[in-house]
Amino acid sequence: MKTTARIVRVDRTTIYTGINALDHLRVACNPFLFGKNLVFLLTDRNTYKHCLPRLLESNPWLEKSILLTVDAGESTKTLQTVARLWMEMLSHQAGRDSLMITLGGGMITDLGGFVAGGYKRGIPCIHIPTTLLAQVDAAIGGKTAVNMEGVKNQAGFFFLPETVIADPCFLTTLPPRHLKSGLAEIIKTTLTGNALLWKKLKNKNVEELLLLPPESPFWQHLINGAITYKNRIVRNDFTEKGNRSILNFGHTIGHAIESFSQTEEANTLLHGEAVAAGMTGAVWLSSKKTGLPPDERDQIAGFLYKGYGPFSFSHADIPSLVDKMAHDKKKHNSEIRFTLISNPGSPRINMSCQPDEIAQALDFCLRF
Ligand SMILES: NC(=O)c1ccc[n+]([C@@H]2O[C@H](COP(=O)([O-])OP(=O)(O)OC[C@H]3O[C@@H](n4cnc5c(N)ncnc54)[C@H](O)[C@@H]3O)[C@@H](O)[C@H]2O)c1
Repeated sequence: MKTTARIVRVDRTTIYTGINALDHLRVACNPFLFGKNLVFLLTDRNTYKHCLPRLLESNPWLEKSILLTVDAGESTKTLQTVARLWMEMLSHQAGRDSLMITLGGGMITDLGGFVAGGYKRGIPCIHIPTTLLAQVDAAIGGKTAVNMEGVKNQAGFFFLPETVIADPCFLTTLPPRHLKSGLAEIIKTTLTGNALLWKKLKNKNVEELLLLPPESPFWQHLINGAITYKNRIVRNDFTEKGNRSILNFGHTIGHAIESFSQTEEANTLLHGEAVAAGMTGAVWLSSKKTGLPPDERDQIAGFLYKGYGPFSFSHADIPSLVDKMAHDKKKHNSEIRFTLISNPGSPRINMSCQPDEIAQALDFCLRF
């Protein structure tokens, strides 16, 4: 089979993206396959059903691996699950020469990275992300995490995978709502780091993009661009002391809206859906604080609203949302700090905003 995957190398991690990227898995595993070492393959119940057959078809040698399968969903990303998986690995007498392969969305890459990074002080890990969000974001950059007491990502550490294999074949079974959620993170990367790509993107609309097959050249261009961009930022600021916070564009408001939505089960938002609302608020703040021209602001907000609106909060919710942000981790000495843009492709980090400005930004999100 002809391989068309692209290879990106960042420090220790090699990333294969594109059609037939899976063909590189065996070679990527080779340095870790010797003697009697064990290969663990972590899936959730959905990726077990939808993605494992495709993986085994292209890599039948993985039939011999030890399957670790967990329930799908955010409520599985806990220390209890980690402990259960460690116990299971111990029961197989897994040593430090074992290999962990994850097959799943961001929940699985976060959990699997944590399990691999903590088992006997770290065993090598290879991510095969199967959602768009995980391909362009969660699997890249070495952040692992589990939730505690229902609060997201409270425990975790930085642990780089050896290899990431982002093959679009998995995206064909992904529910469209999840594809759209991942697209929001791609939009973020164009707004903060790639004005040219944003220009191409804004000539389409979100629904039109979702009709294109994930293996189409346009999607591959978007996915490769987003991965390369995140890599570049992570390489220069691995532990998020500075520029890595560019990646938080839309996330300060987005996280507040996301956790707010979790109080009403019927309306729980996906991460990207909340980030789309967050970016709409952030462009309003950008026009006020960092000189984003009003016509750019309105174009970006219009694009986001058409794709992701109407946003799922009301005027009455604004004070609680601002309050939530004040307790967010981005609070520094009573200021709430944002990543904003002065133009598409020109990010500005650590921009302090007042509660009344944030309230106006949220009001702007509801004005359409
Ligand atoms: N570490 C990071 O840098 C980082 C960045 C962003 C998000 N995250 C984390 O990522 C998680 C969200 O990731 P997600 O949106 O991928 O969610 P997810 O992993 O929960 O996957 C979404 C749903 O799609 C299913 N699924 C996965 N792949 C599929 C496929 N190919 N076909 C059919 N169904 C499939 C899953 O079983 C699940 O039900 C959160 O836990 C978030 O905290 C981490």
